[in-house]
This record gives sequence, structure tokens and C-alpha cells, in this order.
Amino acid sequence: GELPSLAGKRILVTAGPTWEAIDPVRYLTNRSSGKMGYAVAEVAAEAGAEVTLVSGPTTLPVPWGVRRVDVTTAEEMFRTVMEELPQADVIVKSAAVADYRPVETAEQKMKKSRDAMTLHLVKTKDIAAEIGRRKEGRFFIGFAAETEQVEQNAREKLARKGMDLIVANDVSLPGAGFDGETNAVTVFDAAGEVLRLPVTAKREVARRLVGLLAERLNGKELD
Ligand code: PMT
Repeated sequence: GELPSLAGKRILVTAGPTWEAIDPVRYLTNRSSGKMGYAVAEVAAEAGAEVTLVSGPTTLPVPWGVRRVDVTTAEEMFRTVMEELPQADVIVKSAAVADYRPVETAEQKMKKSRDAMTLHLVKTKDIAAEIGRRKEGRFFIGFAAETEQVEQNAREKLARKGMDLIVANDVSLPGAGFDGETNAVTVFDAAGEVLRLPVTAKREVARRLVGLLAERLNGKELD
């Protein structure tokens, strides 16, 4: 079907993983490819929005008409998102940000000597929670990757981080979540479930999310 218009809307999308360096040649990361967030950025641009894509390391090309800002670490993503936030009407946080990073990054490549070693990790700053605190009138869509109690965990996250919608993927389902061309999602707002999509191409998931966003933004203008 036709895409609704998002003309005049400024949308900030985050996508991809982060890399948290252990030493000059090693890092901690996750399986995010960026495909879900890039699809949202691409479809939002097609709908006429002005799109900024804050991207962790991926191999994907910049979608047509999208401004991309590249970052590597969770800390860089935090700083970039906070810089871009004042210029955004809508935030879509589909990146898979590291929850922990090494306390320190070794300056030289670590040697193989002892039989066992311990990596000391510290929590990264929670970008979503900070967006929630600073959001004012902005519309905030978060993602949640869950493997159990999907609805309960997602709805708690929505409330705790001040999101308007949360897109929960059950990443334990085949064909859903990290990497791959498809996803299966359930979208919740504070009142409950608003949309459920079985295993569907990420581009189509993005179209449905953009449709839902346009609906919610237009609804908001009426009251
Ligand atoms: O990139 P693909 O391969 O296409 O895969 C898509 C995806 C599975 C990565 C995507 O659909 C998705 O679910 N993204 C969110 C993954 C995630 O980190 O979920 P979470 O439940 O661990 O985190 C919840 C929210 O907190 C997320 O919006 C996350 O960006 C955010 N967070 C986490 C840590 C941190 N330091 N700051 C954050 O803001």
C-alpha cells in the first residue's frame, strides 16, 4: 500500500551494534547487522521525513536521502544521540548497544600467557533512559530484544525509559531478531499490544512501523 507522509518530520534512527575495545585488535560486540534500523531509516526517508541515522559498525550502504553519522562505541553513540536529539521530532532506537564495556582498553595487544583471565566490565550509559528524561514533546520508539517473558519485559522497559512505543522482538524465534532478512515483532504502548507481526521481511516491518508512527503523530495533532 501507499506510505503515509512524514513530510516535515525529523527522525533520528539508531542502528547496528557497538564495538567495545578490549585491546587494539579485540572488541566486545553482538550480532546486530543494522538491517532493521536501516530499513526504518530508508522507509521513513521514502515517506518524506528528514532522517538522521546514527549507525554502529555495519557493512550496509547509506539509504537514499538519509544522513548517516558513524559511531563505534556505546559512549560515542550516547554523545552523538544527545547532540542530535534537540533537532529531532521522533527517535527510533533500534541499535543493539553494549550494556557493558571493558573498564580499561589495553594499549598493546594482550599476550597469551596465563591459562585463565578475567575481563573487568562496567555498565555503559543507558541512552534510551536519557532520551526518556530529555524527550519533552518528542515521540520515542524503542526496541527490545528478549528471549523470555517478552511482553512483560518490553512493557517494563517502555515505562522505565519513557518510550511511547516499544517494538519487542522475541529473538529466540527462528527468523526473528539479529541479522537475517526477517523479524517477528509485537508493538506495545502504555495501554498494551497495538500491533503484532509474524515473521516478516524487515523492510515490511519498517513500513508497518512507519505507518503506525504516522498514525500516532497525526492523532497527536488532533488533541
Ligand atoms: O540489526 P539487526 O541485525 O537487523 O537486528 C535488529 C535488532 C534485533 C538489533 C533490533 O530489532 C533490536 O531489537 N534492537 C534493540 C536490541 C537491544 O539492545 O535490546 P535490549 O532489550 O537489550 O535494549 C533495550 C533498549 O535499550 C534498546 O533500545 C537499546 O538500544 C537500549 N540501550 C541499551 C544499552 C544502553 N547502554 N543504552 C541503551 O539505550
